[in-house]
Amino acid sequence: MRLDKRIGHSTGLSRQESQRAIRSGRVAINQIISKKADQQTTEEDEITLDAKSVQLPKPRYYMLHKPAGYVSASTDSDHPTVLDLLDEPERHHLQIVGRLDIDTTGLLLITDDGQWNHRITSPSRQCIKTYRVTLHDALTEDAAKQLQNGVMLHGEKKPTKPAELKFTDSQNTQILLTISEGRYHQVKRMIAAIGSHVISLHREKIDAITLDASLLPGQYRELTETEVSSIR
Ligand code: URA
Repeated sequence: MRLDKRIGHSTGLSRQESQRAIRSGRVAINQIISKKADQQTTEEDEITLDAKSVQLPKPRYYMLHKPAGYVSASTDSDHPTVLDLLDEPERHHLQIVGRLDIDTTGLLLITDDGQWNHRITSPSRQCIKTYRVTLHDALTEDAAKQLQNGVMLHGEKKPTKPAELKFTDSQNTQILLTISEGRYHQVKRMIAAIGSHVISLHREKIDAITLDASLLPGQYRELTETEVSSIR
């Protein structure tokens, strides 16, 4: 990271204020004064301002139980956003990991660590997500097989990747569906492809991270170190 950016991130100074501090010789890298704002620094470098150590803030990771009615965006003119549910400083630094539709509930991850976010959302990683889906019609064995093998979504050229499916009620109207892709409205479109529609959609799991059952809709908590490092 550039020295001026690092000073800004660590202290809250603006980019210009950081550059002024650097130019006036107040900043040192490993005890050697640096007057170059664009000098690259590594995580191991010890940076000081006025001989006091400055630290980058620790990355933040949260799981939120998203309620219906909130949009997965940082701003919206018509609806509250999921970030409105977080009582945290510098909310504008937080990124929403993937999206849930406004009416979808359940597990949403939020972080300011862009690389971690990318590891979950990058299509090449095929991170798995499990949804509890309530269907309008009872699911037949044949339709279940189609969902498991892959279905053609309206307007797309390739079928969906194989999915895991478990029935969770005796009427066959509720399933747990595990998919490894994140296409636009994927679950609703998969269910439409077999001639039914979704009554409610709730995400329970992303990779090894399961929604904490003690979180009520709208509540959130920090991820544990084990949960954070489970995403590699
Ligand atoms: N698939 C959908 O259709 N909607 C969501 O919110 C998530 C997955």
